Amino acid sequence: MCGIVGYVGDRSCTDVLLDALEKLEYRGYDSAGIAVIEQGVIKVEKCKGRLANLRDKMAFDGKPEGHVGIGHTRWATHGEPSDINSHPHGNKRVTVVHNGIIENYRQIKEFLISEGYSFVSETDTETVAKLLDYYYTGDPVDTIIKSLAEIKGSYALGVMFRDFPDRIFAVRKDSPLIVGKGDHENFIASDVPAIMKYTRDYYLLDTNEIAVIKKDDVTFYNIHREQLYKSVHTADWDVDAAEKGGYEHFMLKEINEQPNAVKTTITPRISDSMPDFTAEGFDAAKLGAYNKIFIVACGTAMHAGMVGKYVIERLARIPVIVDIASEFRYRDPLIDERDLMIVISQSGETADTKAALELAKSRGADTMAVVNVKGSSIAREADMVVYTHAGPEISVASTKAYMVQISVMYLLAFELAYGVGRISKEQCQKLTEELQEIPDVIQEAIGLENHCQYVASKLVNADSLLYIGRGLDYALSMEGSLKLKEISYIHSESYAAGELKHGTISLITENMPVIAVATQSDLVDKTISNIKEVKARGAMVILVCGKEVVVEDGVADHIIRLPEVDQMLMPMVAAVPLQLIAYYTAVLKGNDVDKPRNLAKSVTVE
Ligand code: M6R
Repeated sequence: MCGIVGYVGDRSCTDVLLDALEKLEYRGYDSAGIAVIEQGVIKVEKCKGRLANLRDKMAFDGKPEGHVGIGHTRWATHGEPSDINSHPHGNKRVTVVHNGIIENYRQIKEFLISEGYSFVSETDTETVAKLLDYYYTGDPVDTIIKSLAEIKGSYALGVMFRDFPDRIFAVRKDSPLIVGKGDHENFIASDVPAIMKYTRDYYLLDTNEIAVIKKDDVTFYNIHREQLYKSVHTADWDVDAAEKGGYEHFMLKEINEQPNAVKTTITPRISDSMPDFTAEGFDAAKLGAYNKIFIVACGTAMHAGMVGKYVIERLARIPVIVDIASEFRYRDPLIDERDLMIVISQSGETADTKAALELAKSRGADTMAVVNVKGSSIAREADMVVYTHAGPEISVASTKAYMVQISVMYLLAFELAYGVGRISKEQCQKLTEELQEIPDVIQEAIGLENHCQYVASKLVNADSLLYIGRGLDYALSMEGSLKLKEISYIHSESYAAGELKHGTISLITENMPVIAVATQSDLVDKTISNIKEVKARGAMVILVCGKEVVVEDGVADHIIRLPEVDQMLMPMVAAVPLQLIAYYTAVLKGNDVDKPRNLAKSVTVE
């Protein structure tokens, strides 16, 4: 989604803005632009394409020289990616960068046209800029407040007024924006990595709060123009965490960070070999009292929820309903005050997940967020928060966030199962101790890298693939399939292995490779039968299974043998080769692995 940055200080504003925008590239974008106050004039440079195009353009036009400015990477929603539709938008007096969607922009536009304004772009953002101009009173905060009263939708805005050349303004509703606090310099940004090179201190801007950012001070107001006093947060990771550190891609680095990410996430929640969520404000008795559990999320996070469902239901025997957030919010779900809603989100800003959380709250359910980004909107709205400690995940394709989300699902399942008396303390301790061993086993699985690279070379020319599995293996297949398609652009589907012959097996030919996951001992024979069915129809089969599984000759073309671990924990191990296969397939295809086409890291619009 769009990235916003802003700077006020003594450095070259253009350099800082470009540098900060580069750090937000991972969010996904199709055009970029900046506005800098140069000798009292707002100078705008923007164009379609990557930041490199913008740099080239400025090399030709001349780089804006100044110390106050705003910048933007655009992920198109209203209007195609083009020079004209790129942000910033505005006129000589006011200029704006925007992330989000202005739902009533058509009405505002019609009104402004009737008032004599003209528009050059197809964007909703231009209406905000012109509305600010229309309401301009000479007092920017007053002008912003008046304009916001007319706007419906979600937004994070960076704003500059020509008449106030020493400051920038920021406001947000439902889209992320932070204010960075430096030494004689201050910033705005959609996400902390953008400003990490300059400062680790930042303020969280809440919905309907306005920040006035000057070189030496930042002032906050609510929409009633009352001044607010906010505390400073400090990022607990350093700039290296947001750099590639010698890896060719962030995705590969993040796959390699998984053992440590899991360790850092689970260790503080284990005491005496038992899950311990007292720091998060809940315990086994509280969890065990819910009637049913909803797990709601999007994409990879939803797949982590699928693993959670299998494990919680198996161990605690509490019904768990997993839903895609964008479906949950529109299907009038049967959730009430006896239920628990767990939302899972790396970014903590996913619009659909946040809306689902709000719906659950409005129905009286208790809510828990499993979130990676501290202070994110979802973390702030949920009743209980379990932070995953993956550190910043930059690659659009989620890997380490998925892994830590699953690790939390396991701990919650153990806690629940113990809470409802389904497992004894000794059993709970044994399971928890096995989970503590998992980081080393994940490390071992990363050692399968060369094998995965070889498998990728066999898949790279495929047009379409199937991932199959049963039970937990099916849950994992969903993630394997998503990973492959999002970065390699090869179509793939995950299918419950037993369901194949009810229709989908008609797709199988020698041109349809099948990746089968078979790690669950009670299901492995059945999955192998399904593998034989596809093999008999010509498919090339890649089998991912445990070390001990007996596989007759000729059943699979390639077998990836996983390190041994309790089979319930297998998804955490089997995920690694699936991630690596997707990664190397995308590399072999020459794709932009960390920034796949059309995708955004943080999906802050519906
Ligand atoms: O930030 P979130 O975890 O809420 O994001 C949800 C999905 O958009 C995300 O998991 C997406 O599917 C991944 N980037 C896929 O790798």
